[in-house]
Amino acid sequence: MKPRILVTRAIFPEVIDRLAVHFDVDYNDQDVALPPEQIAARLGDKAGAITLLSDRIDASVLANAPGLKAVCNVAVGYNNYDLGAITQAGVMATNTPGVLNDSTADAAWALILATARRIVSADKWVRNGQWKGWKFHDNWFGNDVHHATLGILGMGRIGQAVARRAAGFDMRVIYHNRNPLAPESEKSCNAAWVSKADLLREADFLVLLLPYSPAVHHAVGAAELAAMKPTAHLINVARGGIVDDKALVEALQEKRIAGAGLDVFENEPALDPRFLGLDNVVVTPHICSSTRATRLAMAMLAAENLIAALSGQRPPNLLNPEVWRG
Ligand code: GLV
Repeated sequence: MKPRILVTRAIFPEVIDRLAVHFDVDYNDQDVALPPEQIAARLGDKAGAITLLSDRIDASVLANAPGLKAVCNVAVGYNNYDLGAITQAGVMATNTPGVLNDSTADAAWALILATARRIVSADKWVRNGQWKGWKFHDNWFGNDVHHATLGILGMGRIGQAVARRAAGFDMRVIYHNRNPLAPESEKSCNAAWVSKADLLREADFLVLLLPYSPAVHHAVGAAELAAMKPTAHLINVARGGIVDDKALVEALQEKRIAGAGLDVFENEPALDPRFLGLDNVVVTPHICSSTRATRLAMAMLAAENLIAALSGQRPPNLLNPEVWRG
């Protein structure tokens, strides 16, 4: 008998086909998150699960899943997992690093350029029939990206991909991480480590790429926003909760910073409605990794993690090696 697994919401048919070679698949083929009690009920007879970032996996969900051996998240971020509780239950947890670096970095750049050059507001203005003739002076002035200072808070794989793209814009690149990168990595992205205070003070474009954990909740709040230049733009492509959205709305309303490009929010999808009334903000619905090829690669990597985990091999992206008994 094949092991039974749960796929919590719609992914790709080709990934389901791959999983079905190895497993008896209980598939929620709707792209709507299952309520936690449904996930808990359906995990009762399962050996593994493919989960999405909308699925909270914690002690209460695990309590009735005695046969569960692995949960495989289709995301690089895994703040939807209570990793402590998963580890305590002896369950392997995996994520999907690497395969989304370039798509996410491209999207961060889309937000940098769109906010700097006011692309979304200008597009709406043209569509609304407000363009009555070309003007030279004070005509949708934006901010220059070229030769500006790019600051990156959280210089992991995606941060480095964002940094490397800055070379084409002749930018100065600074970053802050708890630990500086190895010299060869710094060299390959032409980036210099600075303190968080210097990063906030000097960046013209500050891109957030920290993984979320309670320790970085509101890492950018009122005090950090106050330290930024009035001409600076904030780009959040990491996770909601890293920024204090209320403080950000107020900073943008009062033009204490110039603009923001935001793909993630507190309480998604119920973002603070005041963002929507601001024309110095570009908002997207948590789509930075969203190209078909990348989302497919993420789902396939999660599947490979689960296949390895349930066939006695160490999954390539194991988050809690302490449960590995290989
Ligand atoms: C997307 O947000 C991810 O963490 O993969």
